[in-house]
Amino acid sequence: MITGITGQDGSYLAELLLDAGYRVVGMTRRTSTDVHERIRHLADRIEVCSGDLLDQSSMTAIVADIRPHEIYNLAAQSFVPASFSQPVLTGEFTALGVTRVLEAVRAVDPSIRFYQASSSEMFGKVQAVPQSEHTPFYPRSPYGVAKLYGHWITVNYRESYDLYAVSGILFNHESERRGKEFVTRKISDGVARIKLGLATELRLGNLDAQRDWGFAGDYVRAMWLMLQQPEPDDYVVSTGRTHHVRDFVRLAFESVGLDYERYVVVDPRFYRPAEVDLLIGDPAKAKRVLNWEPAVSFEALVERMVAADLDRLRP
Ligand code: NAP
Ligand code: GDD
Repeated sequence: MITGITGQDGSYLAELLLDAGYRVVGMTRRTSTDVHERIRHLADRIEVCSGDLLDQSSMTAIVADIRPHEIYNLAAQSFVPASFSQPVLTGEFTALGVTRVLEAVRAVDPSIRFYQASSSEMFGKVQAVPQSEHTPFYPRSPYGVAKLYGHWITVNYRESYDLYAVSGILFNHESERRGKEFVTRKISDGVARIKLGLATELRLGNLDAQRDWGFAGDYVRAMWLMLQQPEPDDYVVSTGRTHHVRDFVRLAFESVGLDYERYVVVDPRFYRPAEVDLLIGDPAKAKRVLNWEPAVSFEALVERMVAADLDRLRP
């Protein structure tokens, strides 16, 4: 069972589990319009059920009905700026939502294996470089604070009720399926539009922030591996390399033969009340225990995202 199956990671994870022979059930929330774009190609291979992280009774009923062996809790309000404008809702979804799923597991079948989508945003104002499973947390946004709650409630339920519950501390991972408001996709989409004559500029915020960016398809493999271990544990998943936003911008424009300095406008509207300046993860434990390594490099990631947006937008 995957909560958040309509999101970037949900769609890649569903593909991976189907390939491994799983029955896959995705939970989606009711909307008046169709938002299943990322899973349309899987429509005849997955089952979809309606529920909401805000609603305990729907969560418990779905888990009781499906009786999954594994639950991947990917659903969340995941956009950091929205967490500043909607902090209470972000807490309800991204923090308390985790407890609701865990309560459903506890009530229905404590042997269900549970994965929580935790985040490098929890490191925030980083207390060590690189960040590992032992680095203290210092979140810098309501989203980061909510994810920290989700992380600790997962650890707490594991220790209190002996659940197989794990927290994957994943660093930024991207793809051509990334939401267009996140910086990498905003850049690849903007570059494609400029190249095709559909736009003349790209307005961005802080170009000096540094992120450890990987490919989402690689990262869902780590989620699955975490639920296949003899003992539940928490893992940092990252590439171990960091780049400035400016590097992503420069490479993306270079991939279509353009100079970013002619098109990028820095717009303070996209600055955040508090910024996370530098993220770089230490993936040593994931490599040692899970035998996990990313396959797609930063450079290849930039190229494939721009190429995909060019293909999508080309008349
Ligand atoms: P995403 O594309 O924003 O997808 C979020 C998913 O959550 C969507 O399917 C969304 O459904 C669903 N959702 C939101 N609120 C819900 C609610 N109240 N009830 C049920 N479903 C709800 O996020 P993503 O990039 O795939 O990330 C997956 C998870 O990993 C998230 O928890 C995110 O915070 C975490 N994470 C992501 C990264 C990253 O770099 N991508 C890194 C670390 C952690 P709708 O389609 O209906 O909106
Ligand atoms: N979104 C956005 N838009 N970010 C910008 C822009 C812009 O125009 N200009 C500069 N940035 C900078 C942000 O200030 C931030 O430092 C960096 O680009 C990355 O921003 P996002 O792509 O929005 O991602 P994020 O790092 O805040 O959060 C993502 O990664 C987390 C893991 O570390 C999200 O996927 C979270 O859900 C995830 O947990």
